Amino acid sequence: MDGPSPHRADTGPGAALRHDSALRHATGEARFADDLPETAGTLHAALVLSPVAHGRLAPLDLLPALAVPGVVAALGPGDIPGQNDIAQPRREPEAMLADGRVEYWGQPLAVVVAETRDAALAAAAAVRPAIEALRPVLSVAEALDAGAFLFPPMVLRRGDAAAAIAAAPRRLSGRFHAGGQEHFYLEGQIALAVPGEDGDVAIHSSTQNPTEVQHMVARVLGCDHNRVSVAVRRMGGAFGGKESNASWVACCAALAARRTGRPVKLRLGRKGDVAATGKRHPMLFRWEAGYDEAGRILALEATLAADGGHSVDLSGGVVFRAVTHALNCLDVPDVTVTGVACKTNTVSNTAFRGFGGPQGVLLMEDVTRGVAEALGTTQEAVRERNLAGGTNGAVTPYGQALEGDLIRRVWAECRDGAAWDRRRAEVDAFNAANETVRRGLGSFVLAFGISFGIMSMNQAGALVHVYEDGSIRLNHGGTEMGQGLFIKVAQVVAGVFGVPVARVRITATSTAEVPNTAPTAASTGTDLNGWAASIAATTIRGRMAETAAAEWRVRPEEVRFEEEEVRAGNRRMGFGELAHRCVAARVSLSSTGFYRTPDIHWDPATLRGRPFFYFSYGAAIAEVELDLLTGEHRVLRADLVQDCGRSLNPAVDLGQIEGAFVQGLGWLTCEELWWDDGGRLRTLGPSTYKIPGSRDVPPVMNVRLLEGAPARADTIFRSKAVGEPPLMLATAVWNALRDAAGPGRLDLPATPERLLMAARR
Ligand code: MTE
Ligand code: MOS
Repeated sequence: MDGPSPHRADTGPGAALRHDSALRHATGEARFADDLPETAGTLHAALVLSPVAHGRLAPLDLLPALAVPGVVAALGPGDIPGQNDIAQPRREPEAMLADGRVEYWGQPLAVVVAETRDAALAAAAAVRPAIEALRPVLSVAEALDAGAFLFPPMVLRRGDAAAAIAAAPRRLSGRFHAGGQEHFYLEGQIALAVPGEDGDVAIHSSTQNPTEVQHMVARVLGCDHNRVSVAVRRMGGAFGGKESNASWVACCAALAARRTGRPVKLRLGRKGDVAATGKRHPMLFRWEAGYDEAGRILALEATLAADGGHSVDLSGGVVFRAVTHALNCLDVPDVTVTGVACKTNTVSNTAFRGFGGPQGVLLMEDVTRGVAEALGTTQEAVRERNLAGGTNGAVTPYGQALEGDLIRRVWAECRDGAAWDRRRAEVDAFNAANETVRRGLGSFVLAFGISFGIMSMNQAGALVHVYEDGSIRLNHGGTEMGQGLFIKVAQVVAGVFGVPVARVRITATSTAEVPNTAPTAASTGTDLNGWAASIAATTIRGRMAETAAAEWRVRPEEVRFEEEEVRAGNRRMGFGELAHRCVAARVSLSSTGFYRTPDIHWDPATLRGRPFFYFSYGAAIAEVELDLLTGEHRVLRADLVQDCGRSLNPAVDLGQIEGAFVQGLGWLTCEELWWDDGGRLRTLGPSTYKIPGSRDVPPVMNVRLLEGAPARADTIFRSKAVGEPPLMLATAVWNALRDAAGPGRLDLPATPERLLMAARR
């Protein structure tokens, strides 16, 4: 494949530009779905949600809703013209509107449509579902022991772990639990469905996955894909929560639009959003390890039990990632890792930044900490002893090699940059001098695989036009959720044409422009769409070069695109002038671009292959201060090193690293989902669910991009993905808290209650 132009304009690849919408975000001018002008006659929808976690549902009486003034329609499962099914492709059907049984508290039962949102909400509240309650299964441990799995266990095996544990000089076992996490995107789930001619429908959706919205709306309405178009300019945050959950929200709006013939907007309020949409999978870990006196871990058997909630949704991919990341960047010769997704009567858990990886990489932290405590050494010493590569193996149990030298380099840079040895001594001295406050130091090293676990999803398309004035319009299948994808891809295109990025107009993602796309997820947005856009732009540039070459009587290879000019020898003309001449010469200035990730393969039957195009590496050190009287803590300092290859945009990447770290810190310390005995989620908003605030950001936070570390794979401009990996660097905070609290189990999130109990042991 042709590489993109090595030329680097001021605003091209590598430039630290601010997010293209940064100012619009700050001033409020950026348009989100709810800001789009409403055409006359737009209706508003609200959902009737199940008040019971598990039970038999009698047919709904929707008359009380219809009696509310302003109500236009009230729709149940019987009103769906196509299939009442919002399951992922090739999965057991999953009802969009519950029919006959309810599986979780907050499950959508009916859609009410009214002239105003208030009327719709009042009408939804007027519906009284008749449900014969059954006992809900709410604990993942209960589901695990009962073998209630959503799909057969995934077992990753190398060697004979049981025999190797039995033969090892020392043995240790452990168990712990990590909680779920609510996405808490600023902009909640929303969709606007506008009916067109002859059954067509146009959807504006806050979605990471416009193509899935298109497919599901078509399935629910019973029409062809070509009748449904889906557009999204931007989301106000998504974090995985709008990968599958946005689809059923859009389906409800589309159903209402079809039934009323009018545009319908469905915006979930915060409480309804938290109640009805999936979260990060809570996970239960049980493990047994065999090791030696030197701290070398020889064998490991582990079970990772994810709480999938009531349906499969994306749990297959989440368990895949948890299992493939269970050893993280460490090597253990004999392993058996079993990953399961348990069925419980809670909302179906879904993608969340890291996609099972953040849970998976906790395993070796618990193992290395346990071994260190048993041997009276440090977790860092045990981790170093077991890092992949060097004298240990570099190949993961599923068969793909890690880069041991890069792992060591990232760790060494972090350790030296954070002055580990000096600060370890300082923390010990502080603790010797204080009784009620203890400090702790913790570290973490990460290898995170980049690519979708479902190989077919690793593809992307783009559509680039150059207009006669030399301005460029860019469209691709990726979606913007705040992560800076659009500016990065625009930088790539600007780099190909040698023009300032301001010449590239960024446009809304649309299934009508680029079809059959993958979701923007798995941190692959820039890798995939950057290449697709680069390929499209390079095609157009080739035609432009030929046009200039013909006029100048030079070879096309001699034509260079730089500084908004086209040059060959001492000939030159403006980029816009050449665009004009191309149109006059009847040369097409429009092209699609298509990319698929090369060299990846995976066998789901044997759990073997090379599923990741490459690994992203990172390391972190955190220092905490724990109040032994209250269990409260503060993170005093964090030092992070992240390998972004040759960063396409260091400003955006830095923002991603900081934001991801703080989001991870929230998951591990203060964000706690709490269900009561009836399965009602009681943490529905910021008063009961604590996300990190500005004062939870460590006052000293040093973030470094690993210098001069080009990706070994053929990535776009040698950059590496950054969206998810740094979330896992917050694991250093867990280790720091355990260092402060003392030996023993510390479940997550490490709330003041748990820390107090741990410290009192
Ligand atoms: N950053 C912001 N500001 N908002 C988001 O919703 N989502 C994260 C990450 N960074 C997110 C974000 C998740 S879950 C993923 S998978 C990646 O962005 C997706 O975008 P990318 O592939 O372009 O990095
Ligand atoms: Mo990110 S969890 O892959 O949307």
